[in-house]
Amino acid sequence: MNVFHVVGARPNFMKVAPVMNALKTRENIVQTLVHTGQHYDANMSDVFFEQLGIPAPDVNLAVGSGTHARQTAEIMTRLEPVLLDRKPSLVLVYGDVNSTVAAALVCAKLGVGVGHVEAGLRSFDRTMPEEINRLVTDQLADLLFTPSEDADVNLKKEGIPAGKIFRVGNVMIDSLVKLLPAARGQTQNGLRLPQSQPFALVTLHRPANVDDVAILKSILQSLLEVSQDLPVVFPAHPRTRKRIADFGLHAGQLQVLDPLSYLEFLAMQSRATVVITDSGGIQEETSYLGIPCLTLRENTERPITVSLGTNVLVGRDPDKLRTELSRILAGQAKKGTVPPLWDGHAGERIAAVLASCL
Ligand code: UD1
Repeated sequence: MNVFHVVGARPNFMKVAPVMNALKTRENIVQTLVHTGQHYDANMSDVFFEQLGIPAPDVNLAVGSGTHARQTAEIMTRLEPVLLDRKPSLVLVYGDVNSTVAAALVCAKLGVGVGHVEAGLRSFDRTMPEEINRLVTDQLADLLFTPSEDADVNLKKEGIPAGKIFRVGNVMIDSLVKLLPAARGQTQNGLRLPQSQPFALVTLHRPANVDDVAILKSILQSLLEVSQDLPVVFPAHPRTRKRIADFGLHAGQLQVLDPLSYLEFLAMQSRATVVITDSGGIQEETSYLGIPCLTLRENTERPITVSLGTNVLVGRDPDKLRTELSRILAGQAKKGTVPPLWDGHAGERIAAVLASCL
């Protein structure tokens, strides 16, 4: 049996690693890794492969950046001949990026089975490109691996038969559990903060937050206010850096860094006083780590991080950010618990399902 994995963007890499690892021990399963090349900078891709122990891709489609239509179409055009040639038994796709939906579409048209890892998450906000990717991918997938109960409920409401849904837990947390000790053992390695100093860790890359000059300016203003209370460390996504420069905005005393490696970022997260973000995965990682997370979005496709975890949605309301931050600094941060099945074994559960289906 030849199981294909298609990945393309930074948040895919920590999800594919545990699944590949778990499948390695299964007899009769050969694995092929396809990198679409959606993310191509070394610090957005290669360093994650090295640190997560992912083998070099067997195929790199090298699609690079582009508009959504171009990028999606390019992935489809370049992936189709690979699948026709190599005839996989099943293709696994991860998360909600353009590479995910593009691969699912190609497979569906070729009649190749698709498994979606991290199925069923919904923000119910179709202005988010990822929401479109999630909805389409889940309709096309044959096996849907979900991280939490809310995802199962969403899928059933959309008419997905219960027999296709497998609640396996959170694969991204598998990588975190495995590499947290190594991350904690990291030396300061370019991090500009002493071990014990409180700080806020910020990430920002959603088009809705960074592509509009007025919105980005107001978020930077709020972050500058935060930096009056505690240092703000801001590893910036290339898109965000570019927007700040293009719009002629200034990051003042925010410590803007290049994107960090997996281990460096995990080390920073585990030591942060608060994480302020618009990422999806970071809402989950902070919940696992018990670190307060303030999310600069009006909604989340990961509601369990709010109901059980440490996440608070502050949207783009500077007052709400201020109030929540004061609460954290006063030692009254929301306490969270780790959601069920976020235990480091989700990849093994996926491997067990595949072994029984293939
Ligand atoms: C993508 C995902 C998003 C995910 C994010 C994580 C989609 C629709 N979006 O968004 O869900 O949260 O990855 O980072 O798939 N760029 C570089 N170097 C790179 C990659 C990108 O400079 O290695 C720049 C390019 O200018 C590019 C821009 O970043 O145009 C955006 O990249 P893209 O892959 O289109 O989307 P992300 O914003 O990274």
